[in-house]
Formats: sequence, structure tokens, C-alpha cells
Amino acid sequence: MCGIVGYMGNQDATPVIMNGLRMLEYRGYDSAGICTMDSGEVEIRRSSGKLVNLERLLKEQPLYGNIGIGHTRWATHGKPTVANAHPHKGGSVVVVHNGIIENYLLLKDELSNKGHKFLSETDSEIISHLIDEKLKSTTSLEEAVQQALKELQGAYALCILCHKDNKTMIAAKSGSPMVVGIKGNEFFVASDMPAIISNTREMVIMEDGEMAVFRNGEVKFCTLDGEDINKTSRIVDWSPLKAEKNGYPNFMLKEINEQPQAIRNVVAGRLREDKGDVFLEELGLNNSGLNAFERLCLVACGTSWHAAMAGKYLIEEHCRIPVDVEIASEFRYRNPLISEKTLLIAISQSGETADTLAALREARSKNAHIVSICNVVDSSIPRESDGVIYTRAGLEIGVASTKAFTTQLVALYLLTIRLGRANGAIDLKKGQEMLAALNKLPAQVEKTLELDSQIEEIACEYLTSWDAIYLGRGISYAIALEGALKLKEISYIHADGYPAGEMKHGPIALIDREMPVFILAPNDRHIVKVRSNMEEVITRGGKVVALCSEGDNETGKRAEFTLQIPWAGEALSPVLFTVALQLIAYNFAILKGKDVDQPRNLAKSVTVE
Ligand code: M6R
Repeated sequence: MCGIVGYMGNQDATPVIMNGLRMLEYRGYDSAGICTMDSGEVEIRRSSGKLVNLERLLKEQPLYGNIGIGHTRWATHGKPTVANAHPHKGGSVVVVHNGIIENYLLLKDELSNKGHKFLSETDSEIISHLIDEKLKSTTSLEEAVQQALKELQGAYALCILCHKDNKTMIAAKSGSPMVVGIKGNEFFVASDMPAIISNTREMVIMEDGEMAVFRNGEVKFCTLDGEDINKTSRIVDWSPLKAEKNGYPNFMLKEINEQPQAIRNVVAGRLREDKGDVFLEELGLNNSGLNAFERLCLVACGTSWHAAMAGKYLIEEHCRIPVDVEIASEFRYRNPLISEKTLLIAISQSGETADTLAALREARSKNAHIVSICNVVDSSIPRESDGVIYTRAGLEIGVASTKAFTTQLVALYLLTIRLGRANGAIDLKKGQEMLAALNKLPAQVEKTLELDSQIEEIACEYLTSWDAIYLGRGISYAIALEGALKLKEISYIHADGYPAGEMKHGPIALIDREMPVFILAPNDRHIVKVRSNMEEVITRGGKVVALCSEGDNETGKRAEFTLQIPWAGEALSPVLFTVALQLIAYNFAILKGKDVDQPRNLAKSVTVE
């Protein structure tokens, strides 16, 4: 899973491509590379690690030319080395690839038998060799690409150059996202719009099985059978968001601190206080439309899946509608029971997660109505949905999701109110109370952020621990999972989240004097039971960090540390507990000297299976 950029025009290609790659680094930062074509020659620069290494290399060994392609890699096949970095060259053909070629070993064997020599362990390299092989028996690069791509199984978004046809650049896609930007006779290709929107707002979205051939200041779209396609461009009206740290040492801390504003944004203009309801016209469903569904199915991955888990608690509790929560990568392959009576809700920060997108398509094929909850405007998932609730969290750069998650929780809370008002499960008074609680939330997030120095002390105390457990009941179980994931992602400490009542069925064996147990104990209906679970840990010598509600001076009495978190009611307190858990993970990672914005092995958006 990677980011690709292509450029053809009258500017120097290198800075255009590097700017695009900077915007795509969220897709992977294992290695990066660029190829430009100048006076009929192709030249390549590649480096392992983050883009900054390629920038350094280009200072020492600059590249020139008005045509070029670039790549930032998240390694799937082959280690993150220079040899495995894209672009890959096979004979006269150079490619950058995002996706996975599933039949690459077979093709590699065939090509090796024909004399092709491979220099990398990647699946991608075979594409350049295959096109080069086809060039031997075809009359044009275009035709060679068409023939080669028909033999590929798997997913790809590709940009292709060939020094034998040095006036041409080709882009093609199947299963991985790709957009083309047009500015007069200049052309930009990228994995997503933000990578090129600073150059042009005129975009063409490529569909699977399509190719774009750029030559002599013109672009032609066609199928792999060579049939021309008449594609229309659209003008994108949103502005590129700037990635700036605004004085924070890293993006993650900035994004954690942006949560009060992000929550104000997701709520802005959506509350209907007089009716105890919310405006969610973007759903494209009125009351009778909403009431027509027999069940809801929430699909997502990672942190967004945790939001879905919390959403199930909210919607079933307040709207009395059955909700299934599905991990997208499982859902897509198990022939799920979905019908036109199912409202499928795909949750994704990026809107590009391959598994979530595939799950959405699976549900579409079974006639579900599809709504997404998404942060990135105009990304693939909202584009393929019938309705969308944008979370308006703003650009999230830190790979570990923070403000995207809490705004997803708020979006689900808004959806809960809408569904409950539509079916009558939430009456006017309750609706108004829920809105009143929501209005207080940003200030309560601000207050929770003030716990940072207490949290730093906790992180110092347990810094040498290898493991941690997070326990919660009810909706707090979903938040325990998220807290554990945050710690794992950025501090590399192993952590697991469990329903507190489940601990005695196994995980209790792990309790010792070294491992912190973070117990989520908001002042909700579960508090007495959670206190008992805490006692079970303490009795076995476990070290408890109790996260409880402000004013609760009972729960933390026997804990090693206590954090008191503002009480926002059972449905919204999870947002505040999340903020505390984000700060816990952050402090551990910083004290351990880790790169919180770009943790090892991860990528912001996972666009492969
Ligand atoms: O963009 P998405 O929300 O679809 O991404 C899903 C997961 O890949 C993502 O939440 C991942 O788990 C994050 N690194 C969590 O911090």
C-alpha cells in the first residue's frame, strides 16, 4: 500500500512530484523514489525510509525533466530496502505501483525463463518487465500496457514511463484509487486529490479497468481493450488543508489538543434544539426512509471499528434497533446476511481503507442502503455511499487516530439522536437533554486535556512495563480497546482491552506487580461491578490506574493512580475517557523516545488487503 504521483507538463517535474508525495506519506513511509524523463533518458533516485531521505538524495543528485513519476511505499512484498523501493525498471519500462499483484510469482517465473533479471523482492517489479516483454511484439507502449495489465491479478494503480516513447506517460487503475488532475495541457496523477489539489481543482476520477494516456499536452482515457472513454472532469471546491504543527512538537499532540474544536465542528449547524433532534440531511433519508430498515450494520477497521463498537452500544440502547458490528476485512469474505432492509454504515477516517471499501461494495451488491461516516471529503468511501456524515475533524496527519476517532463518536451520537427521534425511541425531552450534554462536551474535553501532567507521572512509573491491560464495561469496553490500540501503535508496548467482567475467564492470569491495569470506571450503571473487577486485580497484586468520574472519591481509593475525568453522561463520557487514554499512550511513547507521528510498520491509510 503506497502513494503514487505522476506529472507531465511544462514545469520541472521533481518539485511537483515531491510536493505530492509529501501529501501521500500517510500511505506509507518505508521508502520513496522518483523517476524523471529528460531528453529521452530516464533517471531514477530511490532511498529507504521516510521521504526526507529522498529529499536529501535529490539535493546531492538532482533530477531534471518535465515528465516524472514518484512513489512512497508501505512494504507488502519485500523488505523496506532501496532495492525494493519504487520506481522499478524492467528493460525500457519504469513503473510505480500501489496495490498487490497476486499472481506475480507465476509471471516472474515466466519472465525469468524469457531472460528477464529481477533486482527486487517485490511483486511490482514484474509489471515493468511484463510491459517491456509485450513491447517486443506490439507497436506502441499503450498497447503493450494494455496486454500486460490483462495478465495481472490483484490490485493496482500505476504510473508508467518508457524511454522508447519519451513523450508519453500512462496511468491505469484496478482496485487501488487514482485521480487525474488537469490544468490546461499540464497533467497530474495521484492516489488521492490532496496530493495534487494545490496544482489544480479540475479532477477526473479513474474507475477500475481504465487507462489514461498522456501525450503531447493531451490526455486520452480508454479501456484495456483500447476503446476510448469519454470522461468528464469535475471542479473540486474544497481547499487543501495545510499540515502545520503550530508550535506543537508533533502532529499527534496538536491533533489531541484540537479535539475541543473538532467536536464543535462536527456539531456545528447540526443541532435542532427546539425539536430535540439533529439535521442530518446528508443521510439522504427522511423519517420513513430511516424507519424502513430492520437492522444496521456498522463496518470499519482499526480505530474506526472501535467507534463502530461504541456506536452499537449507543444505537441499540437509545434507538432499540439491532446493530451488527463487523470488521471489514472479515465481512467482505464471508457472504454476510445483508438485504435492502439493512442500513450499512461504513466508518473510515481516510475514506480509502481497502477492506472497508470492499465491504461497502459487498453490501452494495446485496442491495443495502449505504451511509458513510468519514473525515476526508470526496474520498472513495463517501463517493460510493448513498449518504455521508462528514466528521469535519480536519486534516489528521498523526498515524495514530485521535481527533478522527472522537469526532466519529460524536457523529454516531448525532446519528443515534436522528434514528431515535425518527422511530420515537427518543422523545423530545430526552432528545433535548442529549443535545444539552453535547453542547457541554468541548469544554469538558478541554478540562480532560489538563490531566496531562498527572498522566506523565503515570507513564514515568510504568515506563519499563512490557504489557498493559485496559478494562471497561458497556460502552467503555470499546474505549478500552481503543486505549490499548493507541498504546501499542505508538509506544510498542503490548496492550489488550477486555470487557472487565471477562477478565476472570483468562486474562486475570496475566496480572502481576509489573503490568499496569487501566480500569475505565465512569460513573455509569456499571460502576459497582467495575469496582469489584478492580478489587480482583488488586487482590492479585496488580497495579491499577483507575480512570473514574469527577467527584467519585470512592473508586480510586485502592488504586496506585487515579484520574478524575469530567462526567458527560454515559453516552458521551467515552469521548472524555478516550482523550485521557490518548494522553497516556502519548506520554509513554514520548518518554520512550518514539516517533509518535510515524510509528514503525504503520501507515495512515491502508489501501491494500
Ligand atoms: O482511515 P480508516 O479509519 O478507515 O483507517 C482504519 C484503520 O486503519 C485506522 O483506524 C488505524 O487502526 C489507525 N492507525 C488507528 O490509530
